[in-house]
Amino acid sequence: MKIALAYNLKKKDETKPADYSSEFDSQDTINAISSALKIKGHSVDLVDVEQPNLFSYFRKNRVDMVFNIAEGKCGKFRESEIPAILDYLDIPYTGSNTFSLALALNKALTKKILKAENIPTPRFQVFVKDNGELDSSLKFPLIVKPNREGSAKGINVSNVVHTKDSLFTKIKEIRELYKQEVLVEEFIDGKELTVGILENGRITILPILEIDFSTCEKSGEYFYSWRMKEYQGNTEFGLVPTFYCPARLDKDTEELVKQVALKTHQAVGCCDISRTDIRLSKDNIPYVLEINPLPGLNPTESNFPIMAYAAGMKYEDIIEAILMNASERRMVQNE
Ligand SMILES: Nc1ncnc2c1ncn2[C@@H]1O[C@H](COP(=O)(O)OP(=O)(O)OP(=O)(O)O)[C@@H](O)[C@H]1O
Ligand SMILES: [Mg+2]
Repeated sequence: MKIALAYNLKKKDETKPADYSSEFDSQDTINAISSALKIKGHSVDLVDVEQPNLFSYFRKNRVDMVFNIAEGKCGKFRESEIPAILDYLDIPYTGSNTFSLALALNKALTKKILKAENIPTPRFQVFVKDNGELDSSLKFPLIVKPNREGSAKGINVSNVVHTKDSLFTKIKEIRELYKQEVLVEEFIDGKELTVGILENGRITILPILEIDFSTCEKSGEYFYSWRMKEYQGNTEFGLVPTFYCPARLDKDTEELVKQVALKTHQAVGCCDISRTDIRLSKDNIPYVLEINPLPGLNPTESNFPIMAYAAGMKYEDIIEAILMNASERRMVQNE
């Protein structure tokens, strides 16, 4: 097949905040996906979506499929920007559609759907202004997050707050920095889990990945903060979580967690691939934090490949599964 790999390239820019391009993909990831596609016999055009005239580019350079890992640039629906262009041009692409990408990017809206589907998610409140009344049913500690970011952008240890004063200071800070509404959630003390789902004709729920932060004590970080994600593996900073895949869970809990991830994938309408982040509380409730329809695909650093390797897959098999499932969907749509 003739494939265009669409991405936002991670670049260093001293004029921007440190986490500005955390969501974007490194040249290593782009090379790895491109090589995997070529190993399977496809030709690959590399398309940095930040080029001018992207619309004309796609119109003139027709391909059979766009392999989409682009996170988009700005705005409320940034992850849908490229799929929206491709929909308009009737060019097929891998992964979730315009609607599901916009939905999953909006954590609060996703949580409303999860609630309607009886999928556990931490209790929450959205702040569109810096002040407002805190819902008295919410129990401290609370965690404060930008509502529409990923890669733990804007999420630091200081975002876990224990008082109303520190809560409203944090809400103001996040609103000013990220120019968007703020999500306040009950902080779930427990195990950090993430569940990968890969479709290729049928749905495969990959072995659950558990991330244990007890080995990061020296750093003072105890969950997946931005620093933890950005400097993961840095022994000097003490940011060395331990990964267990499969997670250390009894059979019943494992099944419960997998089913919750599957229900989330289906409720949001994800296609081909997703990664659902979960905190398993001390009383064994798997609280869904969010779903990532565009999970990181770095072959050595990202969580999704770790789960696929544990299932016995090679990197190129992950990429091919995504592509084949998307092609199959296109054929059915055209029938
Ligand atoms: N309600 C919560 N209770 C406990 N920990 C939380 C909660 N919300 C977020 N966290 C911690 O912060 C991390 C990042 O949160 P979240 O997954 O919502 O952000 P994100 O930026 O979308 O992440 P990603 O990097 O997966 O895109 C979680 O993996 C978890 O460690
Ligand atoms: Mg997450």
